[in-house]
Amino acid sequence: MPTPFELNNESLYQRWREQKLARAPASVSELIIEVNDPYRLSANEHAALLECCRRSNMVIYAAQQHSADKDIARKVGAQFGLTNLDANWLAGEDGISEIKVSSPADQSRQAYIPYTNRPIKWHTDGYYNAPERRIRGMLLHCSHSAATGGENRLMDHEMTYLQLRDTNPDFIRALMAPDVMTIPARTDDDGVARAEQSGPVFSVDENGKLHMRYTARTRSIEWKQDDISRAAVACLEQLLAADSPYIYSARLEAGMGLLCNNVLHDRSGFNDNPDSPRLLYRARYYDRIAGS
Ligand SMILES: [Fe+2]
Repeated sequence: MPTPFELNNESLYQRWREQKLARAPASVSELIIEVNDPYRLSANEHAALLECCRRSNMVIYAAQQHSADKDIARKVGAQFGLTNLDANWLAGEDGISEIKVSSPADQSRQAYIPYTNRPIKWHTDGYYNAPERRIRGMLLHCSHSAATGGENRLMDHEMTYLQLRDTNPDFIRALMAPDVMTIPARTDDDGVARAEQSGPVFSVDENGKLHMRYTARTRSIEWKQDDISRAAVACLEQLLAADSPYIYSARLEAGMGLLCNNVLHDRSGFNDNPDSPRLLYRARYYDRIAGS
């Protein structure tokens, strides 16, 4: 499958690049699409959400109807061909996680940042997963927002690739090396025990689609220590720290949800209203959004 993401196809890359830049959302408002009922999207709503995902690998729906149970993630995902959930023991039987501040009594989750109110650095989901459990799609539905904070910054990983390749194609070569990023054996951010995992940051799947595996955390991660890998990682860190028209910031309110092809994201710290603490449902899928 011809793909703009291999370094040996410069003309295809240039054509793709031009389109990508021309169609990039100019502001976060272009990423937010109002829908009536996310359980049953109309044909027009579905088409609008999908079109946004084609442009930027992500969309935020904003539902007028707010009542949602845990099943919302499954129901929205299924409308976009997302069916193969990545289940883990903390997520419960159905593979959908309730992201909220865990009680001090819940020792199993207390140690893991997603279940606290602390900020989470830039990452893609499942960066510690083995290749056969690569997370291609992700859905985050907000049931209750925090009293203050809890914003997400978002960046299309294809745009990150584009900016790195424009800076220096050798950075892409380095970040595609199968040993560039190693997560030592331990438990992952959700508390799931796993073996050491080496792999590339950028990889291209059998359909020519780009996948990114990344975390900005500095503990429990080992980067390849040659000059070009270090320079590539430093450049990536700078891109994510800079003011960029391609980094969007959004706060999910009740009834809003992020549907994406596992784009780069972070989360600011937050404070809860004890009467209605922040609650998000998160589903991770092995699938990409169909048709995106
Ligand atoms: Fe995440």
